[in-house]
Amino acid sequence: MNSTSLAADKRKLGAIGEGTAEGKRLHDRCPVKSLLAGADLHTDFPIFEQKIRGRRLVYLDSAATSQKPSSVLNAMDQYYKTANANVHRGLHALSARATEIYECARSRVALFINAARPEEIVWTRGATEALNLVAHGYGRAFLGAGDEIVISRMEHHSNIVPWQLLAEEKDCVIRAVELNSDGTLKREDLDRFLSSGKVKLVALTHVSNVLGTINPIAEIGRKVHAAGAVFVVDGCQSVPHLPVDVRALDVDFLAFSAHKMLGPTGLGVLYGKYDLLDRMLPFNGGGEMIEEVSLEGTTFKEPPLRFEAGTPPIAETAGMIAAMDYLTRLGMDHIRAHEQELTSYALERLKEVPNLKVFGPPDAERRTGAIAFEMTDIHAHDVAQILDMDGIAVLAGHHCAQPLHDWLGSPSTSRASFYVYNTKADVDALVKGLLKVRKCFGCDDRPEDGSPCCDSCGGASVCPDC
Ligand SMILES: Cc1ncc(COP(=O)(O)O)c(C=O)c1O
Repeated sequence: MNSTSLAADKRKLGAIGEGTAEGKRLHDRCPVKSLLAGADLHTDFPIFEQKIRGRRLVYLDSAATSQKPSSVLNAMDQYYKTANANVHRGLHALSARATEIYECARSRVALFINAARPEEIVWTRGATEALNLVAHGYGRAFLGAGDEIVISRMEHHSNIVPWQLLAEEKDCVIRAVELNSDGTLKREDLDRFLSSGKVKLVALTHVSNVLGTINPIAEIGRKVHAAGAVFVVDGCQSVPHLPVDVRALDVDFLAFSAHKMLGPTGLGVLYGKYDLLDRMLPFNGGGEMIEEVSLEGTTFKEPPLRFEAGTPPIAETAGMIAAMDYLTRLGMDHIRAHEQELTSYALERLKEVPNLKVFGPPDAERRTGAIAFEMTDIHAHDVAQILDMDGIAVLAGHHCAQPLHDWLGSPSTSRASFYVYNTKADVDALVKGLLKVRKCFGCDDRPEDGSPCCDSCGGASVCPDC
C-alpha cells in the first residue's frame, strides 16, 4: 500500500472528511449536537439497558475502558459469522475476506489520525504493547550507554516501565519532567534536559489519565526534534477524545488502544513514521513476520508486518472499523466540545461537595474529562464503593500512575471520566452520590459534640440510614 492506495481506500470506504459534502451533512445532523441539547446516545449502547442494583447505570469509568455501541458488537459478530479465517495465509475466499477487513481497518486508522500511509500503522494487543514495541524495536537498536530518555511524572506505568527496562539493559539514564501545581508539565525541566545534548528519546503522554491535562504536544515535539531526539507519544487518553493528527503534531510514534475508543479489548495501535519503523528490529518472532526462514537464520518482512508475529486480533479490527465510523459520524471536534462542556459543568458542580479536592487544571480548555478527586477525610475505595451502590461507576486507586500519586501526596484517588454517552444528568448523579457518601461517612450535619445527626445514626461512624 502507498498513499495512492490510501486515497483509493478513502474513496472505497466512503471515509467522511469534515470538508466533504457528506461530512457537512453528517456534521449538520451530528447526534452530539442534540446530545448537547439534552438528548443522549444510550440507546446505541446495549449495556445501558440493564439496571445496577435497581438503578440507572451511570458509567463514569471510560478512561479505563469505554462502552461499546451495537454497531461494534454487530461488526464483530458478523465477522465471525461470515468472514472468519486467518489473515495473509490462505488463498480461499474467507481468508481473502478476513485479510481485506484487517487491512481496511489499518487504512481507516491511518485516515483517522492522518498518517501518511497505512504501513505506518502497526496492530498490537494494546497501547502497552505498542510502547514496549518501541522500547524493544527502536530503543534496543539505537540507544546506548549514557543516552538519556525523558519521561514525566504524569505518565501511566505503561509509559514508564518499558523505558526503565530499556535503561537498565542499555545503561541509559531516565530523566523525569516534574509538574506545576496545576498539574501541567514543568517545561523548564524539559528544556534543561534537552540542552544536555544527551537525550535520544522523549516519551510523554498527550493527555494525563489522572489529571486530564492536555500537553502541548506539537510545541514540545518541535523542541524534541531540534534536540535531535525521537518523540514517542502515549495517545491512550487523547485519540478517543480529541481530533489527533499525527502529521500536524509531527510525532514519531503514537500508541493507543481500541478499547478506550468504543472498540474491542485486545487491539492496540502503534503509529510510527515509516522510515523509523523500517529501521527497527522485530519485537516478537514467529509466523507472519518473516520473509524466509532457514535453520541458519531468518529474514523479515517490511513494516508493519515485521511487527505482527502470529495470528493477530482479527475480529477486533472489524469492531475497530465500526468504532471509528461511530466516532467519525459524531465528529471528533464535537466529541471534544461535548466533553469540554461536561467537564466545565462537573468542575463547577463538584465545588458543592465539602472536603473534595479536585486535581489537574481548573479550566476545561486545558484538560479532558478524566477528573481525579480526593475526599480529604474518606478513603477513595469507600467513595467508589458507596457510589457503586447507586449504580455510579468510578475508578478508585492509583490508576497505574504511582509516581503521580506520590506527588499528589495520596496513594489513591477516585476518578470520574466522561465519554460520548455521558450527560449532565450523570454529573448531577455523581454530585448527589458524593454528598450521600459524606452523609454516610462524615455526617457533615452531625453536631460537633458527637451526638447523632439523625434518628438512625446513633453516633455510629457509618450512618445506617444512608
Ligand atoms: C495514559 C495511558 N497510557 C497507557 C495505558 C495502557 O493502555 P492499555 O492497558 O490499553 O494497554 C492507559 C490505560 O489506562 C492510559 O490511560
